[in-house]
Amino acid sequence: MPAFPVLWRDRRGRLSALRIATLAVLIWPALLIVIDAGRGALGGRPLNEAIHRTGWWALVFLLLSLAVTPLRRSARFGRLVDIRRMVGVAAAIYAGIHILLYVADLRFDLLKVGSEIVSRLYLTIGFAALLGLLVLAATSNDASVKRLGGLRWRRLHLAAYGITLLALIHFFQQTKADITVPTLYAGLFAWLMGYRLLAGWRGEGALSPLGLVGLAVAAGLVTLLGEAVGIAIAFSRPVLAFAGQFLVAAFDPDLGIRPGWWVLAAGLAMAALEAVRGWGEGRAAPAPAGSTKVAVGSSPGSALQPR
Ligand code: HEM
Repeated sequence: MPAFPVLWRDRRGRLSALRIATLAVLIWPALLIVIDAGRGALGGRPLNEAIHRTGWWALVFLLLSLAVTPLRRSARFGRLVDIRRMVGVAAAIYAGIHILLYVADLRFDLLKVGSEIVSRLYLTIGFAALLGLLVLAATSNDASVKRLGGLRWRRLHLAAYGITLLALIHFFQQTKADITVPTLYAGLFAWLMGYRLLAGWRGEGALSPLGLVGLAVAAGLVTLLGEAVGIAIAFSRPVLAFAGQFLVAAFDPDLGIRPGWWVLAAGLAMAALEAVRGWGEGRAAPAPAGSTKVAVGSSPGSALQPR
């Protein structure tokens, strides 16, 4: 393994199509911001637009890095673990650019930046998330795993869940009117957390298709309820009465597809993937009698990552 691993090569030094495609996806949003800035397509406040876009991508990549474990298990695609670090580090880089753009927006007046971060709660929370992300990115290498030991390293990287929660709160707090997108991300995060809790509790690799259906329904419902409570609080309406009305109205297509339905659909898609891949696996190699279930898609490296 070279001292500076080449990003487009896998651990054995072979050119990896998966890594190349991932790199392209990770770089594309930044490239698009630069292109749009160059052709004056970032609107009246280009710096502000770039701040929004980089913050958005930081959060999306953070969520995607957490989705790698359930995906690789249900898809029986262990090689996905190879790109998790790349996605996580990309989230930290986008968050870093996000704050740099914010500093530029305040004309590099660091005293003002500091006082804003201290005095505005949503910035204080964003700052805490950023610090956490930078620590995780700085320790996302084999040398840190060796230095800290696998168990301590994994415990440290469990902080990714808390950091995502902080980033979500930061997203909600700066959202002025429409909370649809933050609610969608919060719902997907609820699904991801539910997956970890269930997988940890059952102590096995992939969850069963039925377990995943249950999780999808629960996460979808929590998201619908969360949105109802959020709107009720924002518009000072009685929470219980409004939540009831909202749950009924959520079936009205005129209201648009609420985030809860998307969360349900994503969860059901994962259950379907698990069912199809599990069925194919069973047909290809029937398990010998008395054999125990093995964590699917696990690899030596995966034990070192938060699951
Ligand atoms: C010191 C740290 C941070 C600062 C100073 C900061 C600052 C900001 C500012 C000024 C905005 C726009 C608010 C507005 O226009 O009213 C924003 C939006 C946002 N930030 Fe941050 N942020 C920080 C950390 C983070 C981190 C770590 C993440 C994610 C991992 C993040 C994700 C977002 C998101 C998702 C948005 C909303 C984007 C959108 O509207 O689509 N921020 N942030």
